[in-house]
Amino acid sequence: VYLKDENLTQETRDLLSSLPSEKGWLVSQMYQFEGSWQAPALLQGIVNCQKHFEANDSDVILATFPKSGTTWLKALLFALIHRHKFPVSGKHPLLVTNPHSLVPFLEGDYCVSPEVKFSELPSPRIMQTHVTHHSLPVSIKSSCCKIVYCCRNPKDKFVSLWHFGRKLAPEETAEYPIETAVEAFCEGKFIGGPFWDHVLEYWYESRKNPNKVLFVTYEELKKQTEVEVKRIANFIGCGFTAEEEVSEIVKLCSFESLSKLEVNRQGKLPNGIESNSYFRKGEIGGWRDTLSESLAEVIDRTTEEKFRGSGLKF
Ligand code: A3P
Repeated sequence: VYLKDENLTQETRDLLSSLPSEKGWLVSQMYQFEGSWQAPALLQGIVNCQKHFEANDSDVILATFPKSGTTWLKALLFALIHRHKFPVSGKHPLLVTNPHSLVPFLEGDYCVSPEVKFSELPSPRIMQTHVTHHSLPVSIKSSCCKIVYCCRNPKDKFVSLWHFGRKLAPEETAEYPIETAVEAFCEGKFIGGPFWDHVLEYWYESRKNPNKVLFVTYEELKKQTEVEVKRIANFIGCGFTAEEEVSEIVKLCSFESLSKLEVNRQGKLPNGIESNSYFRKGEIGGWRDTLSESLAEVIDRTTEEKFRGSGLKF
C-alpha cells in the first residue's frame, strides 16, 4: 500500500536478498528482519527510520501490533496531550481529521524517503510504530521520550486483522483459508509477527523501566476507560487536575463518536486505505462470530505457552 516493490531502493533489494523469506497472507513475499516478518516496503521504512529518526525528549511514541487499538490510542493521546490547545468543547481536529492523519506512522512515512520531517506536528510530538522493542530507532530508547504500548487479546486482534485484510486486499485474500492464517499466526510466520514476542518484549520493558514504557491493554481500556486514560495522562506527564473532566475526551474518542464522523466514514487516507476500515466493531470478544471453537483453542494454546510465567493473561 505504501510503496510499490519496483520503487524499492537498491540497498533494500540487497538487504532483502540476504534475509529469510516466506510467502505470506496479505503480502506475496515477506522477509524476516531482526526476528519479525515484514513486507518489503515497510522493511525499507523500518531501516530508514532506524538510521534517520531522531527522537526528542518530549516525544510520545505509541507502539502496537496492528489491530490492537492503534486508532483509538492515537485519538486519545492526541486529545489528551493537546487538550489545552484544542479543547474538546471547541472545533476539535478529531472532528474533521482521521486519527491516522494526526499521528504519523513512523515506518510508513519513512518507507518512501529517508528525509522525513515532522515539523508540522504540534509539540509535544506523538508518533506511532508497529516495530518490536528491539527494532526501535536507538534515539527512542536512549532519549527521555515515553513509549505507550497497547496490546489486545490475540483472538480479537487476529479476527480484526482478518477482516481488515480481506477488505484491504480482496484478491490476495479471497482464496486464503482462515485455518492456514491461524496456523501461520501461531507459528509466528505472520506479517509483523511473532505477535507474542512483540507483546512480551514491551511487557518486560514496562516492568523493567516503568517510567519509560507504559503497558496498556485494549480490554482494560474498554472496561474502565476513564481510569486508564488518567493513568496514560499521568504517565506522559499531562495528568488531570481535580477540576478537569476526563469524560469529554473519553466520549470524543469513543468508537461510537469517531466511527460516526463523516471524515471516518468516507474517503481514503493518504496510504490508500479507506478511512472506515479502521472502525469495524470495536468490541471485546467479537472473535466468536469468525473463529470456530477449534481455531480459538489453537490460538489459546499458543498464548498459554508463550505467556507462561510472564504474568500476562488473556
Ligand atoms: P475490530 O476490527 O475488532 O472492530 P487498529 O486501530 O490497531 O488498526 O485496530 C483496529 C481495531 O480497533 C478495530 O477492531 C476497530 O474497530 C477498533 N477501534 C477503532 N477505533 C476504536 C475506538 N475508538 N474505540 C474502540 N475500538 C476502536
